[in-house]
Amino acid sequence: MAWFHLAVGLLFSLVSVVCRVNGIGANWGTQATHPLPPDTVVRLLKQNGFQKVKLFDADYDALRSLGRSGIEVMVGIPNDMLASFASSVKAAEKWVAKNVSTHISSSNVNIRYVAVGNEPFLETYNGSFLRTTFPALQNVQSALIKAGLSNQVKVTVPLNADVYESSNGLPSGGDFRADIHDLMLAIVKFLSDNGAPFTVNIYPFISLYTEASFPVEYAFFDGNASPLADGKATYYNMFDANYDTLVWALQKNGFENLPIIVGEIGWPTDGDRNANLNYALRFNQGFMSHILGGKGTPMRAGPIDAYLFSLIDEDAKSIDPGNFERHWGIFTFDGRPKYPLNVGTTNSGSLVPAQNVHYLEKKWCVMKPSASLDDPQVALSVSYACGLADCTSLGYGTSCSNLNGRGNISYAFNSYYQRHNQLDSACKFPNLSMITKNDPTVGGCRFEIMIQPYYGGAQRKFVGCLQKPLSFAAVLVLFLLTSL
Ligand SMILES: *[C@@H]1O[C@H](CO)[C@@H](O)[C@H](O)[C@H]1NC(C)=O
Ligand SMILES: *[C@@H]1O[C@H](CO)[C@@H](O)[C@H](O)[C@H]1NC(C)=O
Ligand SMILES: *[C@@H]1O[C@H](CO)[C@@H](O)[C@H](O)[C@H]1NC(C)=O
Ligand SMILES: *[C@@H]1O[C@H](CO)[C@@H](O)[C@H](O)[C@H]1NC(C)=O
Repeated sequence: MAWFHLAVGLLFSLVSVVCRVNGIGANWGTQATHPLPPDTVVRLLKQNGFQKVKLFDADYDALRSLGRSGIEVMVGIPNDMLASFASSVKAAEKWVAKNVSTHISSSNVNIRYVAVGNEPFLETYNGSFLRTTFPALQNVQSALIKAGLSNQVKVTVPLNADVYESSNGLPSGGDFRADIHDLMLAIVKFLSDNGAPFTVNIYPFISLYTEASFPVEYAFFDGNASPLADGKATYYNMFDANYDTLVWALQKNGFENLPIIVGEIGWPTDGDRNANLNYALRFNQGFMSHILGGKGTPMRAGPIDAYLFSLIDEDAKSIDPGNFERHWGIFTFDGRPKYPLNVGTTNSGSLVPAQNVHYLEKKWCVMKPSASLDDPQVALSVSYACGLADCTSLGYGTSCSNLNGRGNISYAFNSYYQRHNQLDSACKFPNLSMITKNDPTVGGCRFEIMIQPYYGGAQRKFVGCLQKPLSFAAVLVLFLLTSL
């Protein structure tokens, strides 16, 4: 019987290890032409041990799928709805009734936060949301109070790290951006008064992308960048320094204890010379180890509450910020892990792929061998295909940068064809294209096959399978018994 006690003992210690890791969440964005069905995504979250998820809107199917999963949810209000909530508490009440109360009461969704806007003070928005964000925040809070939910559901505003700055380049010089200083103080005071957290998105990758002189090693957690000394504190990575700039800004203005959530953090894998699998793994693994250690930053000890950006690639995101924008996922668009990230929550120590993903046929659209690179239709056809599909994996420093001219053209044609669900008419580039059953994938440059489109609400067959905590325990027991 000793083995049994040992197994039970191990089981409990493993469970407690798994449960102590409560800091890690994921952002689930849905700007994709072919999103995975919400039930599949919720299973993916559960199987990979994510205990929190952050949404950018309040999609009905997504929330329904999260029902009874136990996963903590942050629902989002998009920026374009802020004006209406700022001017009407009734509109905010309707939103809360429909998108929060109903889901909590009818399917037991564990909604914990409402994100009011998404990076509304980003300088590229030219101040469009400066007047509406705070009143919208106040009205959503009133609506939560009226609905009797203000104890369990907290409001917050996910902000870009550019809402604060440092006068001397050191964290201790941190304060809120001068042009929005008073507004930030009003928001911070409101969050503090209502027991709500400050949410900030921190992106060392973007610093590296936008500042040619940014020291690459300083972006990582295991880097050998020259450390930055700030009084008694020493900074070895950009994340700590940036986070502490916020801690200083809060402290300087009298809010040193305001909880902080890192709403987005991550590294893209394609579309730029610094966006690749090695760097993404190195950054995200470094971040996971950093927060699993529980030490915090020099200015704020303790666990860090964070949501990785992002769960899955989104092929319909705007590429205005850069071609990397469609490649933030730790999973591909179809739920395959991109690299062996250990988020500390699975038995195997690596990511588990999405289950029961339904693909289209194994066929691709490529350039005909008989077609000539000099055909005057080539340039037009490629720019047409790329404009309506996704060519962000082509170009300098990307996963498909090694393709030759014909490979490039085929890649563009195939992307267009798959995005159009392999319609015959989507592989009719004049005299240039043909359908093939031979996978044109070369090395790390994948010619994808699209997944079947999801038509909302129709597929609910997977609900429930993994939502019983018991089955998780049972898997653990099996795992322990077989390994003894
Ligand atoms: C609920 O959220 C969805 C998705 O964000 C939005 O389209 C809808 O307008 C919201 N409902 C109300 C009543 O505000
Ligand atoms: C912001 O202003 C610039 C310059 O006036 C303009 O080019 C850009 O389109 C504006 N952006 C938004 C989001 O309004
Ligand atoms: C392939 O396409 C990319 C992006 O359009 C371009 O930068 C590259 O030069 C092309 N390569 C060849 C060999 O044509
Ligand atoms: C297709 O190719 C044939 C033979 O090479 C040529 O006669 C015809 O004009 C081409 N059609 C188009 C639309 O380019």
